[in-house]
Amino acid sequence: MDRKLKVVLSPEETSIRVQQLGEIISRDYQGEELVLISVLRGSVFFAVDLCRSLTIPFSIDFISISRYGERTNSTGVVRITKDLDINIADKDVLVVEDIVDTGLSLSYLLRNLKTRSPKTLKVCTFLNVESRRIVNVPVDYKGFDLPDIFVVGYGLDHNEKYRNLQYVAEYIKE
Ligand code: IMP
Ligand code: MG
Repeated sequence: MDRKLKVVLSPEETSIRVQQLGEIISRDYQGEELVLISVLRGSVFFAVDLCRSLTIPFSIDFISISRYGERTNSTGVVRITKDLDINIADKDVLVVEDIVDTGLSLSYLLRNLKTRSPKTLKVCTFLNVESRRIVNVPVDYKGFDLPDIFVVGYGLDHNEKYRNLQYVAEYIKE
């Protein structure tokens, strides 16, 4: 294995947890008009597995946002670079994120989506890093809590690399 990587979540742990989340979400949204919004590009891997574990009807759409500046930059200037194709008015919307870190991207996204009058708006994130939060954002479903480490794999990248790893690993910068 790459010297810079230290496994933090195995494929088995991940798939068990994603299956559990799918069961919980299927129960909570029974009879509702669920629309999953996967935030490109990192959350796609998680979103696809989550979809496969759902036992209720749902739609899926994708949105892409970009934040100017570095991960450590807290100015939080965000813009939509690819918008949704479907109308979410009166729908039960669940935003699917790979990781909620400072919360700046998600906070912008939620404010934007609220203006489109969804019936409900909730968040499901694969990973949550509470200690790095700058703005308060609601996280309704989460896969795992992580300490303040930089991780790659299962959709998460470092300069677009490592998204395809089946495990999640800490990326140790040299
Ligand atoms: P936030 O606005 O700081 O919450 O940024 C969240 C976004 O930054 C995530 O959706 C990821 O795309 C990226 N990100 C934050 N932490 C990590 C990490 O540890 N590894 C890879 N990407 C990360
Ligand atoms: Mg992201």
